Amino acid sequence: MSLYDKVFEHVLVKMDAEKAHHLTYDALRAGGPLLTRAPIPGSAPVTAMGLSFPNRLGLAPGFDKNAQVYDRMGAFGFGHVEIGTVTALAQPGNPKPRLFRLPEDRAIVNRMGFNNDGASAVAARLATRRRKPGGLVLGVNIGKSKVVPDDDQAAVEADYETSTRLLAPHADYLVVNVSSPNTPGLRNLQAVEKLAPLLAHVRRTADQVTSAPLPMLVKIAPDLSDDDVLAVADMALDLGLAGIIATNTTISRDGLRTPAAKVEEIGAGGLSGAPLTRRATTVLRLLRDRVGPELTLIGVGGISTPEQARERVAAGADLVQAYSALIYGGPGWPRQILKGL
Ligand SMILES: Cc1cc2nc3c(=O)[nH]c(=O)nc-3n(C[C@H](O)[C@H](O)[C@H](O)COP(=O)(O)O)c2cc1C
Repeated sequence: MSLYDKVFEHVLVKMDAEKAHHLTYDALRAGGPLLTRAPIPGSAPVTAMGLSFPNRLGLAPGFDKNAQVYDRMGAFGFGHVEIGTVTALAQPGNPKPRLFRLPEDRAIVNRMGFNNDGASAVAARLATRRRKPGGLVLGVNIGKSKVVPDDDQAAVEADYETSTRLLAPHADYLVVNVSSPNTPGLRNLQAVEKLAPLLAHVRRTADQVTSAPLPMLVKIAPDLSDDDVLAVADMALDLGLAGIIATNTTISRDGLRTPAAKVEEIGAGGLSGAPLTRRATTVLRLLRDRVGPELTLIGVGGISTPEQARERVAAGADLVQAYSALIYGGPGWPRQILKGL
């Protein structure tokens, strides 16, 4: 049992999950300068979307929503960090409690609801970013502000446009997130009739504010039907997107070991971690079979062991990301994965 396992079992698991997250976060902010920049054993650079990634492993969005610690995460082994989701307007997210651990399933349920400081505050923070050749790659993930109705296409486009204008100049790649289950109506935007014009609008905006074409991706939910996954794949090819990120959290609660009464008590939210592995891998494979070698695919959802990371790459992922496994595995976890990749 590692030191982190002991701390997790005896301290963190007894704390409210969101408080434990803030504790980790504060430690990262305070201790950042002490972190070593030693090269990670076994990690090899990968080129994707015209960018050079120090390795295949990235930190999925949700951990550093406001771009406060992303530049410290390379020291743990991550080759890229996706910050966000950031919305045009600052918003508090849903009432607490909104983050829950399901240790029997090595899973998390969250209904954070895009709590974030808003695009202009995050852009101001990113303006101090120092890019280094061969350094950490930064993805910026943007979503819809809660007050904007999902059925008002013009308002939705204007909202994503604001975030794009402010954030695209600081990003190495940009992700349009339409797949969180915690913003009412957001996932309706995954329907290709709405998604295609939205993505085209974000593309035009990004082109106006960046000197070189910025790689743009869309992040999808595991709960789409296989046909809808394929429709998104075709659309991504038609629009010339750089890639697709699969997947976000699921609203399914099938096959959990956690007692049903506890699952019910937790209530609504997106489930992540081990129970997501299977569907996220299937979606990735469906996408790769459809798009061929052209697009970059980022595999995320239930990756916790080196074997699972390798399996996701075998299913067609150019890059992989994780979040829940970091909560259960602690700061030494990324290095274990990289040794296996
Ligand atoms: C607490 C929490 C917050 C998250 N917030 C976001 C978010 O803001 N935007 C997003 O695209 N995904 C978010 N996610 C989803 C993750 O990025 C990832 O897609 C999902 O958790 C599956 O990966 P995992 O099983 O490795 O955790 C969040 C996940 C968790 C657990």
